Amino acid sequence: MDIREKMRRDWDRRARVDSRYWVSATEDADEASYLESGQRDVEALLQGLEGRIGPEARVLDLGCGIGRMTAGLVGRFAEVVGVDVSPEMIDEARRLHGAAPGLRFETNSGADLADFADASFDLVFSYSVLPHLPPDVVHAYFHEVNRVLRPGGWFRYQFWVGPTARDHADNDTLNIRVYDEDTFHALNRAAGLAIEGRSAIDYTDPVLNLKPVWIDARKVAPAAPRTLDPAPREAGLSPGERELEYGLLLYLAVKHTERGERAEAEPVLEQAIAADPERPEAYVQWAAIRLEQGDTVGALRLFEALSERSPDQPIAWLYRAKTADASDRPEDARAALARFDALGVTDPLLLAEAAELREGLPPAPGRPPRVRRRVRTRPARKR
Ligand SMILES: C[S@@+](CC[C@H](N)C(=O)[O-])C[C@H]1O[C@@H](n2cnc3c(N)ncnc32)[C@H](O)[C@@H]1O
Repeated sequence: MDIREKMRRDWDRRARVDSRYWVSATEDADEASYLESGQRDVEALLQGLEGRIGPEARVLDLGCGIGRMTAGLVGRFAEVVGVDVSPEMIDEARRLHGAAPGLRFETNSGADLADFADASFDLVFSYSVLPHLPPDVVHAYFHEVNRVLRPGGWFRYQFWVGPTARDHADNDTLNIRVYDEDTFHALNRAAGLAIEGRSAIDYTDPVLNLKPVWIDARKVAPAAPRTLDPAPREAGLSPGERELEYGLLLYLAVKHTERGERAEAEPVLEQAIAADPERPEAYVQWAAIRLEQGDTVGALRLFEALSERSPDQPIAWLYRAKTADASDRPEDARAALARFDALGVTDPLLLAEAAELREGLPPAPGRPPRVRRRVRTRPARKR
C-alpha cells in the first residue's frame, strides 16, 4: 500500500473514534483537558515566535488535526491555513471552526504541499505530527516546507532528538521516532534550514525517558529535492503500531467507563478489538459493561467471539462458560468448560473459578443429580 494512503486511512479511523483524543491524548481524555491542551500549546508556540513573526504573516499548520491549535491563532495573523492528510479530521475542523475569518482547512496527500505556491508563507508550524511519520515522508515534507516558505521564513516544529535514534516499521504511522543529533542536523541542512533555537517541552515520555522539543528553523537556502521511497508498505498495522493503538484505545475506554460513559466506551472497545482481535482485555472490559447492565447474552456473545479468535486462551472459555450459565444455557456452559479443561490450565485461581462454576451447574440431562455439597472443598482438603 502507498504510505500516503495508509496514513490517511489510519488517521481517518482514529478520527472517527474520537478525534479530540487522537490529536491530544491527554491524561483525562476529556473535553476540558483537550481545550486546556490547545491553550497551553498555542501559548508555547507563540512564545517562541516573539519578535520573529508579525500580525501580517501567513501561517501554515502542517498536520492540523481538528484545528486544536490552528483556531487559537485566529486574529493574531493575517491568515492561518490548516492542512491534514485525514479528510475526517478536516471535516471536523471545518465543522468546529470553519466560519472564523482568516482561517481555512484543507486536506493534502500526506507528503507534499502541492496546493500551496512557492514562498507563500511566513511561518510553517507543526505539532505532534512529524515524529509519527516514516523518515522518507519527513524528508519530503521538509523539502516542501522550504519551498512554500518565503526566504528567511520560519519553520517551528515539535520533534524528538535524543542520544539514541529510535525508528519503527516503515508503515508505522503512530509510534514516536527519535532522531539522533547527526541525522537531525543533516535533515535540516538538506532542507535548506538553519536551526536557530531549540527548547524542551514540559513533558517527559515515560517510555523514552525524554522530552520533546520545539525546533526553530529558518529558511536560508533552497532544499535538495526528496522523493518518497516507492516501495509499497504493509497495509495492516505493524506489531508496534498495533500495540500502541490498542493500549491507547483501552485507556480511553477505561476513562469513559470510570465516568459512567458506557455508550462512549463501547465503540472505543469495538475499535480496540478490531485493532487486535486476539487480545482479551477489550472483550473483558466490554463484557463487564454489558453485565453491569444485566445483559448476560451480550457478554456471552463477546466471549464467544474471543474464544473463536483465541481458542487457546483459558479465560475465553471460562468466561464464556460463566456468561452462558448466567444466560441460562447450561449445555453451552458445560461445553465451554470442557474446552477450558482441555487446555490443561494450572493457574489455581482460574481452576477455582471453574470448579465453583461446575458445582453450581445443573446436572447434564441423563445424568443422576449430583449431591450438592454445602461446605466448600477447602476445609475438607485441610483435614
Ligand atoms: C497527534 S495529531 C496532532 C494534530 C494537531 N497538530 C494538534 O496538535 O492538535 C497528528 C495529526 O497529524 C495528521 N497527519 C498524520 N500524518 C500526516 C501526514 N503525512 N500529513 C499531514 N497530516 C498528517 C493526522 O491526521 C493528525 O491530525
